[in-house]
Amino acid sequence: MNTLQFDDTRRLRHLLTLDGLGGERIGALLDRAAMLRTAFAAAGAKPRPLAGRTVVNLFFEPSTRTRTSFELAARRLGAQVVNFDIASSSTNKGETLEDTLATLEAMQADALVVRHKANGTPARLAASARHAAIINAGDGNHAHPTQGLLDALTIRDHHGDFAHLTVTICGDILHSRVARSDLHMLRALGAREIRLCGPKRLLPTAEECAGAIITTDFDAALDGSDVVIMLRLQKERMDEALVQSESAYFERYGLDEKRLRRTSRDAIVMHPGPMNRGVEIADAVADGPQSRIFAQVANGIPVRMAVLTDLLDP
Ligand code: CP
Repeated sequence: MNTLQFDDTRRLRHLLTLDGLGGERIGALLDRAAMLRTAFAAAGAKPRPLAGRTVVNLFFEPSTRTRTSFELAARRLGAQVVNFDIASSSTNKGETLEDTLATLEAMQADALVVRHKANGTPARLAASARHAAIINAGDGNHAHPTQGLLDALTIRDHHGDFAHLTVTICGDILHSRVARSDLHMLRALGAREIRLCGPKRLLPTAEECAGAIITTDFDAALDGSDVVIMLRLQKERMDEALVQSESAYFERYGLDEKRLRRTSRDAIVMHPGPMNRGVEIADAVADGPQSRIFAQVANGIPVRMAVLTDLLDP
């Protein structure tokens, strides 16, 4: 829960986490995303509710999907987009993040989309923002709220209601901001059972994952699952090698066609990307009929449109 993301009237002022957002507000964002997806797929003139507004992408960590889809979402809504070049910016000369924010606000930036390796960086910026909305595009292993929302839309598109769903998330849960945001989203939307699976050293404490079943047994976790979300090993966030070898990891935690047969008949497979094929997921599954991995990518645009319009054009 982060109260900073609401204004005095409980309107969303920033998007920092899905924790505490509630099923109703998440559902409303998904409805808005679905409406925008339909509007932009139809022929004819498109709405441009963000004409004259400026969105700045501030990515201190690499990104393909999130950065590009925020840019496409903002441009399609009529906003100007600035992709802030960290490497050639004055952050490298010792400028504080708060001064960078104040500088961009002085240039009339309306929203900053922030990715940073340190947990809490978007919240830190939200605390000192004067008028700009701060959107968390992934901070450390803390949260990736728009990924949680696009995962929710992808699940809802296929399964409808969450109340009958068993969802398994498998991989490097310990270092995953996606797992945390998905957990918040699945709890808020009332998923029947949430299973978190991975090697013991890559699992967080039971306390942190309240409301989920934690297991090291992938085959058992897959039994009857309706949704399987695979995560990659996030070596950039590991202080030491926490798995023996990639082939040994695939042997126990890789999703292949044989293992996939343990899931429910109508199960779908998801992955936030980037994928490590042959490490956590086999080609045949990633590219197979139950995969929704590229539907997730496609849903990233309407979901980010929904977030941008909710914050900038409520
Ligand atoms: N899912 C995700 O955050 O991907 P990127 O790192 O490519 O943005």
